[in-house]
Amino acid sequence: MTEKRAQFATRLGVIATTVGSAVGLGNIWRFPFEAGVHGGGAFLLIDLFFIFIIGVPVVCAEFIIGRHTGLNIRGAFRKLAPGKSWGIVGYLGLLASMLILSFYSVVAGWTLEYIIQSMSGFGGITSVAGLHGQFDSFATSDIRPVIWTLAFLTINYFILARGVQKGIEKMSNIMMPMLFVILIVFCINSLRMDAATEGLSFLFKPDFSQVTPSIMLGAMGQAFFSLSLGLGCLITYSSYFKKETLLLRTAGIMASLDTLVAILAGIIIFPAVFSFGLEPAAGPKLVFEILPSIFMQMPGAMLWSTLFFILLFLASLSSTISMSEITIAYMTDEFGFSRRKATAINISVAMLFGTLCALSFGSLSEWTICGMTIFNLFDYVSSNILLPVGGMIISIFVGWVLDRNVVREELITPDSSVRPWMVTAVITCLRYIAPLCIGLVFIYGLI
Ligand code: TRP
Repeated sequence: MTEKRAQFATRLGVIATTVGSAVGLGNIWRFPFEAGVHGGGAFLLIDLFFIFIIGVPVVCAEFIIGRHTGLNIRGAFRKLAPGKSWGIVGYLGLLASMLILSFYSVVAGWTLEYIIQSMSGFGGITSVAGLHGQFDSFATSDIRPVIWTLAFLTINYFILARGVQKGIEKMSNIMMPMLFVILIVFCINSLRMDAATEGLSFLFKPDFSQVTPSIMLGAMGQAFFSLSLGLGCLITYSSYFKKETLLLRTAGIMASLDTLVAILAGIIIFPAVFSFGLEPAAGPKLVFEILPSIFMQMPGAMLWSTLFFILLFLASLSSTISMSEITIAYMTDEFGFSRRKATAINISVAMLFGTLCALSFGSLSEWTICGMTIFNLFDYVSSNILLPVGGMIISIFVGWVLDRNVVREELITPDSSVRPWMVTAVITCLRYIAPLCIGLVFIYGLI
């Protein structure tokens, strides 16, 4: 732990890797399906509240802890509050990251299947119903989804074990702008569909009479999930930040780009949902059932479709790498494991749980706990419970326990672009607003 910590080389590198962690299936797959299940507009508005009012300050809190200590999630709390039980966040984080990695890899595996399917032009099927049915029969079959999940995790293993994050950094720099461009092309395409207005009003017109505790809880979970927040992922990444990195600005840029991608995904999906006469509340399968039909209606379908699923796969990869980095940094720092060994443990556990998640659309679909399949349960417990609880503890820790001077020192920049009121606002949020809001949504949501 005493050796010099690696650092991100450039400002672009910092932005690209944090945005690379944040942007992934959470934006393009999870946001549209959650918004679809929870009624659209109101969900989006509450999500935005949680991202910008609660999320950005808590992102800053993770950055402050990470950069100030330069340590892994467990070590950081031990250094800042020796002998206290704050380190519990570390264990929550480790648990949540394993759960998320498991179900996330299943969906990332779907993108691999779809890269292949796109290259073959979806076996010549062009009808909406046909493409829809094709996804269903793929997801409910047992072998292929499991193989793709394991394949995706194996790719993770090779990248992580070599520690070639530099390659990932460079890849993010090219991939992120490309992803934006292609999303904008698809948006224009969707906006020209018959039911574009209907789709957009579903997404942007909030109907507050529909707001229920479960929508609030779902939107809070989505905000944390999408920002990679609450399990120490950003503590780990910011331990590689330089002294000059502007924390508040980085948090702001990250949250804005992350939100932009989610909204673009919504603009692509919902007009298509209504144009094809489908159900917005289809759940986790929604996006994969709809995207092929969207692409097949565009000129150059195979090319667009292949390119899109490759980008989505890469975006997932940069997110899963950030998840795994938490457990790997923890095991190498705390137990002195080699990077290879730590990675092997992390990936093997994910393979085991990932297989169960992959099967929960097929032969394990009857295995339910509290009415949820294993896949849904992992998602629900990690996103709606563990991440917000982690975020709450982190905000209380930075707001109440950590020396105020440390917080100021980390946030204030020499170029005085950060005004004193901004620092006060962040601290006020961490002390009062974030813990209170998260706590209330919990009590409200769970009763
Ligand atoms: N934010 C990523 C996404 O939207 C997923 C992710 C990466 C994540 N690292 C995380 C979620 C840490 C929670 C915690 O796809």
